[in-house]
Amino acid sequence: MRKVLFVCLGNICRSPMAEAMFRHQLKEAHLENKIVVDSAGTAGWHEGKPPHMGTRNKLDELNISYEGMTARQLEQEDFSAFDVIIAMDEDNLSTLQTEFRMQEGNAKVCKLMDFVDNPKEENVPDPYFTGDFQYTYELIAEACTSLQTYLQEKYHI
Ligand code: 4NP
Repeated sequence: MRKVLFVCLGNICRSPMAEAMFRHQLKEAHLENKIVVDSAGTAGWHEGKPPHMGTRNKLDELNISYEGMTARQLEQEDFSAFDVIIAMDEDNLSTLQTEFRMQEGNAKVCKLMDFVDNPKEENVPDPYFTGDFQYTYELIAEACTSLQTYLQEKYHI
């Protein structure tokens, strides 16, 4: 069993969208028992809240479940509990490096768009500020396809 954690700032827009989409994708590939998915925010402002309405609307449109998902803040223990921690942007990554002692865990830490060859964006723009949840979805969808291949190859799944 491998564990993947998506991380953004608030854990209500981008990382819960990635969590729900990737879990759905793994279920369709019958890999849900091999790879588990979670998400967290570098900030704890929205702790306990469900995903943002923009994320919920997009997931509803795609018939992807986000049932029971609530925001939580990243914890130091996540670095040893997860195999891969995937930040949505450079800011999240630098927070992981500065505010959290990420070198102490075992997790591989990277950015979502690292999984895409010639990506349109290096960072997933924050729809909390842009309002563009469709674009967030498109970037996450492309990256999650390559992420699945990466995990299957790396962990021989
Ligand atoms: P997220 O977006 O990091 O994709 O969940 C944000 C959500 C909330 C805030 C900022 C970004 N906020 O400032 O409350």
